[in-house]
Amino acid sequence: MKTSTLWLTGLSGSGKTTVSIALADQLANSNLCTYIIDGDILRSGLCKDLGFSLDDRKENIRRAAEVAKILNDAGIVVICALISPLDEDRRIAKSIIGEHNFFEIYLSTPLSVCEKRDVKGLYKKARAGLIENFTGISSPYEAPQTPWISIDTSDKNIDEITSSIINKLNAQ
Ligand code: ADX
Repeated sequence: MKTSTLWLTGLSGSGKTTVSIALADQLANSNLCTYIIDGDILRSGLCKDLGFSLDDRKENIRRAAEVAKILNDAGIVVICALISPLDEDRRIAKSIIGEHNFFEIYLSTPLSVCEKRDVKGLYKKARAGLIENFTGISSPYEAPQTPWISIDTSDKNIDEITSSIINKLNAQ
């Protein structure tokens, strides 16, 4: 597998962070050097000036893609875990990274399941009107129409999920 970016998109709670960590572990077993760019972490540093308006999300995603490109050029496999809700922004990310190095992984876990998981308690707050522009509630999420792979994490364990991605990568 040549150095590329695995771009995980999906709602908050769809499983992006969990899948990215498991994927990085698996790839490390194949002696690949990996780095995870996670929205929550990015937003605590490089993107801490950004909020959740669509313009700010666009800039967040652009910066993530530029960093991913730099890391790819350095021989590192990047796993991006960002909601990246809009098709146009994901297309921009793909063009920055390069279409042959960009693998779009759509975690299609339904809103009802993400909301039930509510790992961070954010859906509850969003429903109560305490968080504005919350993806899936008061801000849009556009499902990718032609993702490289689409996985609903509701009914699968983490090994099944990572295997389906790694097997597809190996068959590339
Ligand atoms: S993105 O839309 O710009 O790609 P990103 O993945 O960086 O979003 O950040 C999403 C994370 O920020 C969520 O997992 C959640 O923890 C937190 N968050 C805080 N406020 C919001 C909001 N209004 N909408 C979505 N996520 C939010």
